Amino acid sequence: MSSILITGGAGYIGSHMTWLLNEAGHHVVVVDDLSSGNRHSIPAHIPFFQGSIRNKDLLAQIFTTYHIDIVFHFAACIDVGESVLNPSRYYQNNVSATLDLLDIMCTHNIKNMIFSSSAAVYGEPLYTPVDIHHPTNPVNAYGRTKLMMEEILKDYESAYQLRSISFRYFNASGADPLSRTGEWHKRESHLIPIILQVASGKRPHLEIYGQDYPTPDGTCIRDFIHVIDICRAHLLGMRWLREGGSSKVYNLGNGKGFSVQMVIDTSRTITKAPIPTIVRPRRAGDPAILIANSHRFRTDFGWNPQFGHLTQILHHAWQWEQRNTKGQTL
Ligand code: UFG
Repeated sequence: MSSILITGGAGYIGSHMTWLLNEAGHHVVVVDDLSSGNRHSIPAHIPFFQGSIRNKDLLAQIFTTYHIDIVFHFAACIDVGESVLNPSRYYQNNVSATLDLLDIMCTHNIKNMIFSSSAAVYGEPLYTPVDIHHPTNPVNAYGRTKLMMEEILKDYESAYQLRSISFRYFNASGADPLSRTGEWHKRESHLIPIILQVASGKRPHLEIYGQDYPTPDGTCIRDFIHVIDICRAHLLGMRWLREGGSSKVYNLGNGKGFSVQMVIDTSRTITKAPIPTIVRPRRAGDPAILIANSHRFRTDFGWNPQFGHLTQILHHAWQWEQRNTKGQTL
């Protein structure tokens, strides 16, 4: 049986993918440098290699030991704000290291990749919902690294027949319904985990970045898509590539917009906690509304979000936050 290599497989989306593939009976190998992932977020029996994707000897060892035919590439730096302050780290990790990975894949004749791209490739939306034809104009180094990799992947298909599916994620959120893994960043900047940390008493309040946007309640609107729905899409993409399908680029979103205020209000209902808030000025670079049109992926693959309701997303994220608070995980 062929194996799947998951880079960043101990991180947020990667660990959910590892559990899902494992449950579906696939053989998975994980490489992760644990700069932001956690060894305990994946099943103990999964072959795990701690190291960077820059370590060519390590990758060569993995590719010669296991019969890998596809790489799911999640390992990347993801903090938009940090990418503006320290672009070097982003170009090194998200472009240069990924290029090294592609080259060593080609050396070992591994010609399938699922690539984690981002809605950040679009920049400030010209219209919403954002479909796949929307012009790409990233406004930060993070988005540019993802777009550069999409372009590089096109050249690698033409020249080396390395086929890929790039998924442009919108706001990945939620957690494993069984709370085996969840969202866990060393330096948290994302809305939902921060709200739930306030609810569990780890933070005194939530700062709302702007209440003067041209939206019904004045707060930004985002497309929160459950991490399991993202992973289900990857399973479909893998099947496509393994059956010889050509390279594709897709949006992955819920198609529904939820305002920051809606997320706070629904979290108060679910957690039964007051969740104090303080209104702050707008955060630089935040578009008012970001909603995905994932029509192309829905029609090509018959995919639909299974956990499309905000309450389900928050319920699973809250279960996970509570387990963490009690020290039962990680
Ligand atoms: N927000 C707050 N307070 C906080 C944190 C966030 O008000 O403490 C607001 C933000 O201003 C924004 C919304 O909540 O309006 C969502 O912010 P997140 O930081 O959770 O997510 P982003 O929409 O900024 O970014 C996410 C991913 C990026 C990806 C982008 C593209 O984190 O990697 O979506 O859709 F590029």
